[in-house]
Amino acid sequence: MPERVWIFDTTLRDGEQTPGVALTPEDKLDIAKQLDKLGVDVIEAGFPISSEGEMTAVKKIAAEGLHSEICALARASRKDIDAALSCNVDRIHVFIATSPTHMKKKLKLTRQEVLRRAVESVEYAKEHGVSVEFSAEDATRSSEPFLISAFLAVVDAGADRINVPDTVGFCTPKVMFNLVRTIREKVKAPTSVHCHDDLGMAVANSLAAIEAGADQAHVTVNGIGERAGNASLEELAVALQVLYGVKSNINLGEIFKASQLVSRLTGVPIPQNKAVVGENAFAHESGIHTHGILRAPSTYEPFRPELVGRRRRLVAGKHAGAHGVEAMLEEMDLIVSSEELSQILERVKSLGD
Ligand code: KIV
Ligand code: ZN
Repeated sequence: MPERVWIFDTTLRDGEQTPGVALTPEDKLDIAKQLDKLGVDVIEAGFPISSEGEMTAVKKIAAEGLHSEICALARASRKDIDAALSCNVDRIHVFIATSPTHMKKKLKLTRQEVLRRAVESVEYAKEHGVSVEFSAEDATRSSEPFLISAFLAVVDAGADRINVPDTVGFCTPKVMFNLVRTIREKVKAPTSVHCHDDLGMAVANSLAAIEAGADQAHVTVNGIGERAGNASLEELAVALQVLYGVKSNINLGEIFKASQLVSRLTGVPIPQNKAVVGENAFAHESGIHTHGILRAPSTYEPFRPELVGRRRRLVAGKHAGAHGVEAMLEEMDLIVSSEELSQILERVKSLGD
């Protein structure tokens, strides 16, 4: 495991690719400021070539003087890189696909042409004095020897960091672990991972990559992004601290605020049962659980809600128990006799039914 993991937040780029989401430059700036407070190391502010508004937004964010490094996305083309450079960003994220499907069907390029474009683009961006992160799009469906040769070539051309995207969320943790371990053995460069959640494994796959030596993960707040979304920042950051004891720069106390802001400005609701930030993430319903929680929160909570700026909630329903209902009444300053308590409990259960 690396000693510290860098958090590369792409809420404003991949996150904004969520179907139906479009943020104004002002919205993007508001989110960027909260991401900065949250302590993300890198903010991918957008894809400047894609529209005028996008270019304005990236420029505004780059001019704000935030602590986080500001990055812009560019395909492996001079036009895209020039657009990113014109925004005065610290880092350019250059990408080109390396999988047979993408090269043949989308790009209509041979392997040699892909390699040439990747190398020329990295060299071109580096000539302009920015830091360069190179992504081999659809890395996890690429031929491993070709993927390694692409990474070796771009590192030779000056890339500061390589990134391994699981573009269609097709990996399992074991496959991701082995792939990143091989890459780390053969390519001597800081390595990042970018996972999509098509099969619900984006966070597990990102953690597997980190276990194999990746020291940066791409994430989005609330896990928003193309299709089923990206690895969720809040889940990954909490897992790193609580399960692995690995440092990141994330101020976990700011997570809930960031989650609420992103949901409000993007219009993407947070599922009630979403880990860490969902309405029910720290709510306890059944009598057995509320009783346990009242005795010791560790019985049914993997970590304290306060860690992520939240509070626990006890909820009355048909599975309720006397201890839980009594505690809820006490919270409302209502002290009842044991007879009253059993009547209330009965009523709660019949209402629940
Ligand atoms: O999912 C992906 O492959 C991407 C690239 C641009 C890195 O978002
Ligand atoms: Zn992506």
